[in-house]
Amino acid sequence: MAEENADRTVARSWLLLVVVTVLVGLVGFVAIFILGAQITEHDPTETFFEASDVFVQPDAEWNTTIFVSKSPETREIRRLTWLVVLISVGIFVVVEGLLVFAMIRYRRKNAETTGEPVQMYGSNPVELAWTVIPILIVVTLCLATVRTIHSVQPTAGERPENSLTVEVIGHRWWWEFRIPEYDVVTANELVVPVQRPIWLELGSADVIHSFWVPELQGKMDAIPVKTNYWQFTADEVGTYLGQCAEYCGTQHANMLIRIDVKDEADFKTWATNQALPAPNETTPSAVNGRKVFLEYACQNCHGVAGLSDGNFAPDLTHLMSRTLIAGGMLPNTIDNLKAWVENPQAIKPGCDMPALQLSKSEIEDVVSFLATLK
Ligand code: CUA
Repeated sequence: MAEENADRTVARSWLLLVVVTVLVGLVGFVAIFILGAQITEHDPTETFFEASDVFVQPDAEWNTTIFVSKSPETREIRRLTWLVVLISVGIFVVVEGLLVFAMIRYRRKNAETTGEPVQMYGSNPVELAWTVIPILIVVTLCLATVRTIHSVQPTAGERPENSLTVEVIGHRWWWEFRIPEYDVVTANELVVPVQRPIWLELGSADVIHSFWVPELQGKMDAIPVKTNYWQFTADEVGTYLGQCAEYCGTQHANMLIRIDVKDEADFKTWATNQALPAPNETTPSAVNGRKVFLEYACQNCHGVAGLSDGNFAPDLTHLMSRTLIAGGMLPNTIDNLKAWVENPQAIKPGCDMPALQLSKSEIEDVVSFLATLK
């Protein structure tokens, strides 16, 4: 008789478990589906934070946060972020709620109670419940993530017809950008047209780097001997900053990216100018600097169209069109150029450029020459 009762209890627990799991699963899926649709309709960032400065700094020239999205790709990633955050908050509230409830409901109520409360071990239904429910949650998050990855990450054959191809090559510690369509080779600072798909083909000259401009796209690794494809379409004209996002050596933090999004006409003006050979130097100092540039090792690494074709280091043909030098560390000023040429290792220890022990006047001349590279 007692055995029969026990069997019935076990059978009932199993049934209860199955019913509860199916119900939780169904309610969960429906809730997540509704939540996802709500997030798409009313993005929490726009609804709650756009006007405040929690994530957005209205006065800043740029924002480097994943909560400021200036492309369809980053908006999708942001929605997924919110979905995961809200589901996690839901789980936190439920789990902590049950914990607090148990602490209050089953606390020791009077002084006579001694010893431990009744313990429960090895209940299959309970063990299964707290295994199956988390699995359902993880599967749901996984499906949502796969869907987002599928929609933002292109494969080799998916290049849009009207896109602009940019080859991105990571170097320790700077970025090389090439735009074959316009014959442009530049470093660290890229100009692209607004509202046109930008098709990135990423590679690396040495170790693994990661290309990341948070407002325009998620991260994508730049790997040697393998091409990764990435794509974004910028909504608005503006300046967008990024950063190498994969540790690549001592100067990893000084491997910045700057993308200037311009309208089509301004972009074409820029690209056309970048494709021109270096302008002719005028002053005696610049003429001498050019000679120094060719006599010393500079030209082995740095390309200057029409003068040298080194390609281990940033192309300098239009150096003065860039706002920063040294992988984004310093503003591109005459004084900074002099300090850099004199001793790069003092500014960016470990970088490939050695101090060439130039005399003061040679440094003056080289920088006069560099200043003509507009
Ligand atoms: Cu390149 Cu970190």
